[in-house]
Amino acid sequence: MHKDIKQVLFDEDEIRNRIKELGEQITKDYAGQGLVVVSLLKGAVYFTAELTKHIDLPVRLDFMISSSYGNSTISTGSINITKDLDENIAGKHVLLVDDIIDTGLTLEKISNLLLTRNPLSVKTAVLLDKGSRRVNAMNADYVGFEIPDEFVVGYGLDFAGDYRNLPVIGILKPSVFAKK
Ligand code: PRP
Repeated sequence: MHKDIKQVLFDEDEIRNRIKELGEQITKDYAGQGLVVVSLLKGAVYFTAELTKHIDLPVRLDFMISSSYGNSTISTGSINITKDLDENIAGKHVLLVDDIIDTGLTLEKISNLLLTRNPLSVKTAVLLDKGSRRVNAMNADYVGFEIPDEFVVGYGLDFAGDYRNLPVIGILKPSVFAKK
């Protein structure tokens, strides 16, 4: 285990197996149709890569960058879009993919923005759902795992930019917070 991780919540096999299930479900739900997958960088990069491998449909991949946390573990509620889509999503089914839904503000704001561009539909997929922290009525359509209110890192999730490349999802040791 990584020295800064207190507890591994999901190992590589668990993550891969669950994402495969989500991909198969999405394939069934959109059968006979194409999909624009919109991945919210940076956190969603690993989840998006694994998920799209298991969606057996015509998929176009695009990226947005939005930022809410800065270098703190508390969401500020203000979200900036620093990179917008290249694809025109009018008349397309859109699947918005993120690593985690926490307060729900990011998915709500980005979904609403995408809906103004006349897509056929917008659905959402997240690997992790920290439901106890929600401040709105937002829920993802596809959820990998529900998690407790702990600060988790790995598989795309960071603390102050670090730990994204850990292959597992784990809870950070409190001593790591104290140093920042
Ligand atoms: C994180 C995460 C989600 C969002 C979830 O993004 O990737 O996009 O926060 O939080 P919310 O539900 O409270 O809005 P962050 O802004 O840290 O950017 P990152 O993807 O580059 O880590």
